[in-house]
Amino acid sequence: MARKLAAGNWKMNGLSADLAEIRTLLQAPAPGCGVLVCPAATLVAAMAEACAGSFVAVGGQDCHAAAKGAHTGDVSAPMLADAGASHVILGHSERRADHGEDDALVKAKAEAALAAGLLPVICVGETEAERDAGETLAVVEAQLAGSLPETAGLVIAYEPVWAIGTGRTPTLEQIAEVHDAMRATLAARFGAAAEDIPLLYGGSVKPGNAAEIFAVSNVDGALVGGASLKAADFGAIITAL
Ligand code: G3H
Repeated sequence: MARKLAAGNWKMNGLSADLAEIRTLLQAPAPGCGVLVCPAATLVAAMAEACAGSFVAVGGQDCHAAAKGAHTGDVSAPMLADAGASHVILGHSERRADHGEDDALVKAKAEAALAAGLLPVICVGETEAERDAGETLAVVEAQLAGSLPETAGLVIAYEPVWAIGTGRTPTLEQIAEVHDAMRATLAARFGAAAEDIPLLYGGSVKPGNAAEIFAVSNVDGALVGGASLKAADFGAIITAL
């Protein structure tokens, strides 16, 4: 698995007409990094069809821990795979906050994703209060300890909660501190396989700050929210990687 990955999270945005942004993105030459776009579940199949055979992979934004059953409104990992997804975002702070998801549930979802042939993109990150209290590394370590599946086929996204959608980002030194610590933790847990795990930074990544963030130690790409919605902005971020 290539470590360099530019991933877009469309969150609860996007109608059929917005697939035009993906079609525009696909007109660029294939970049030297992986590209992933994760739309709402309603668009996964159509986006996968639009991106078939291209450099853009498609992912879901969440899945249930069960493969099927009486869970009204939920989507399972096999359903996402059947719709053409190759990845699924899990444990995003918005899921943790809005739906009370804890590390154990994220881990169960990650195991379900792997069983369905999907690569989990597992999100971790501290709140502003936790950073102010000097707890950032402890929080991230605890989330990694509790959320990761037993095998190393995955992607990690470090997303400080306070940097999401705010226009604020940590300093480059703060990003490096967390990413270096995550790599060491993954190496202790998975051995040499940890070297293949992409470590993405997420939180207010824009065309204007992407290059400097991508130059940081152990940053292998980004999980991009708002700036992934427009082909011009996301394309510029991809080019910076
Ligand atoms: O999943 C993406 C992150 O939450 C970052 O969102 O780029 O809009 O800050 P943002």
